[in-house]
Amino acid sequence: MTDIALPKKDRVLSCIQPTGTPTLGNYLGALRNWVAMQDEFDCAFALADLHAVTVRQEPAKLRAQIYEMFALLMAVGLSPERNLLFVQSQVPAHTQLSWLLSCCTQFGELSRMTQYKEKAAKHADNINLGLFSYPTLMAADILLYQPKYVPVGEDQKQHCELTRNIAQRFNSLYGETFVLPEPYVMKTAARVRSLQDPTKKMSKSDENQNAFISLKDDKDTILRKFRRAVTDSQAHVAYREGADGINNLMEIYKAVTGKEYDAIEREFDGRGYGDFKTAVGEAVAAELGPIQQRFAEYMKDKAQLEQLMKQGAERAAAVSRRTLGKVMKKMGFVQV
Ligand code: TRP
Repeated sequence: MTDIALPKKDRVLSCIQPTGTPTLGNYLGALRNWVAMQDEFDCAFALADLHAVTVRQEPAKLRAQIYEMFALLMAVGLSPERNLLFVQSQVPAHTQLSWLLSCCTQFGELSRMTQYKEKAAKHADNINLGLFSYPTLMAADILLYQPKYVPVGEDQKQHCELTRNIAQRFNSLYGETFVLPEPYVMKTAARVRSLQDPTKKMSKSDENQNAFISLKDDKDTILRKFRRAVTDSQAHVAYREGADGINNLMEIYKAVTGKEYDAIEREFDGRGYGDFKTAVGEAVAAELGPIQQRFAEYMKDKAQLEQLMKQGAERAAAVSRRTLGKVMKKMGFVQV
């Protein structure tokens, strides 16, 4: 019998900051797709806690959020065995490579980053060096694991482009070292908008609590928020140009039930918005319920969470150390 080698899976890497509880938008637009990618790809997912401190964080709160986000990633279905699942600050190669890459990144390039300009305007009293060099740390996160794809939202595409430019520059200065990663935009990702102003993206930092569904909202809260969702005066459930509020609810309902728009229109034919809003709320609560249960289970055992973080960090360290070693050798450092 001949051995048939299994084709090696392509690697995927993405990270999420552990600030604030993710929303239904983060879940349907990103997290749920990460879960779907576990089968097809060799995945690495990390909590970008070092990125979080580019704006002021309260230490006790940050610490609590790191535990919570780690538990939540597993609760949504990311397996710590099948994936590399880890916390960025627990893997030293990230900051080490970040320094080396910062010497291959131009001041001008970083000054052009849209997110930097926005955050600098928002936090005018704290325009720190980390906020500026944030994309080189992100480039290090990515390049250490040599992924083919980096699933990100629209707002991070520019940082992915910069990562490619840095990688390309390094390769041409020191010889082929890095795989050039491609941003990956999932076709199935739902774009969930604010329930109070559907022209805006749903955001966890919205001042209006009714504008977003947090993954930790209980069923009553979810139902209430959907009942209050801003729609229009047509009272006829149909996807149509300009009806952002109802379109958003249809998109959410489609994402959680798998029903297509025409089926949804038929289901609610002759019924008002009230019925539809309740149905969307019920469907979302049913989707989030089991996640919330698993989350509560994980949160009960901090020691177990730490053990899982430690395993993830050790595995990530083994992979990233290799890339870092290669980079340092190429640059001329002496390794003993
Ligand atoms: N900057 C990303 C965000 O805020 C998080 C992030 C950090 C990231 N490092 C990354 C995303 C590497 C993808 C790959 O959303």
